[in-house]
Amino acid sequence: MDRLRREMTDFFQKLYVEEQKILVFGEGRCPSRVALVGEAPGEQETLQGRPFVGRAGKNLDEFLALSGIRREDVYITNAVKFRPVRTSPAGNLVNRAPSQEEIRLCLPFLRHELALVKPEVIVTLGNVPLRALAGRQAVIGEAHGRWLEWEGAKLYPLYHPASVIYNRSLRPAYEADVIRLGEALRGKK
Ligand code: URA
Repeated sequence: MDRLRREMTDFFQKLYVEEQKILVFGEGRCPSRVALVGEAPGEQETLQGRPFVGRAGKNLDEFLALSGIRREDVYITNAVKFRPVRTSPAGNLVNRAPSQEEIRLCLPFLRHELALVKPEVIVTLGNVPLRALAGRQAVIGEAHGRWLEWEGAKLYPLYHPASVIYNRSLRPAYEADVIRLGEALRGKK
């Protein structure tokens, strides 16, 4: 994993000479039965150098509590390894959705990471990691809560834990999906 991180750092340093992107690596148990894959780090993640901290971490904690999964038992990473930003009309740096190009550039590193973690179950959080792994035809509105297969592992797509805060109508489906995931991991169906 350390070598992979060095390779990633070299690659993006050379690619983004001007921007000097700050990379946020995955963390957690390795190898692990479960890998969670989010979209991309935000401001707090970039400042602290860890995925899902700050507000996103609270959303993730709620997800973990509902599913009965413990953070220390899983590996957590993102499809895109740096914060995608744009400048707002007021001149502030704000988050934006990652571009297809950014997702494509990060995908070999995500694949390599997952090969090292060897998860039995990959849980994608939101559309970005789902489409990065399952292909661009996949849509979270249809795929959430359904078991897919990805290169010998089970893939379980979930809505992004933050999206259910912005769009409250997704919440019942999200909660049911998360509870079913927890049950499946504990061996109940
Ligand atoms: N949202 C994500 O998808 N990942 C993070 O690390 C933080 C917020």
